Amino acid sequence: MKKILVINGVNLNMLGIREKEIYGNQSYQDLMFYIKTESSRMGLDVTCVQSNYEGKIVEYIQEAYQKYEGIIINAGAYTHTSIAILDALKAVQIPTVEVHLSDINNRDEFRKFSYIGLYAEKQIVGKGFAGYKEALEYLKNK
Ligand code: DQA
Repeated sequence: MKKILVINGVNLNMLGIREKEIYGNQSYQDLMFYIKTESSRMGLDVTCVQSNYEGKIVEYIQEAYQKYEGIIINAGAYTHTSIAILDALKAVQIPTVEVHLSDINNRDEFRKFSYIGLYAEKQIVGKGFAGYKEALEYLKNK
């Protein structure tokens, strides 16, 4: 079974509470259920983690070294600021897909730039939960 690590970053634990008009009504727990359901259907071994701390996300990536065959990451706002997360991804050299629930290219100007995007081999935006499914499918078929 292919091992995939799903990393959700800052404020993703607030899904269902935060800016519902942008991120919808479903909670982080709903997202976990969705990912577990889809990944078991696809025969993938998926671990999901979430943190609001940049350094913790860096550690999750470092610990994935030689353990996971793919990373799916939605770093939240750190997407637009974190050279540290970019460097960690470059260090471990694991195929990575960047996911965003909202379409970061059609919101505030400052959301258009993604440090993660400098490393990720694929970026999926604006598809809500389905973006994670598309990312799982992409890594499965790699
Ligand atoms: C987000 C988009 C980011 O710009 C924002 O800071 C988030 C969520 C998304 O999933 O659409 O926290 O990553």
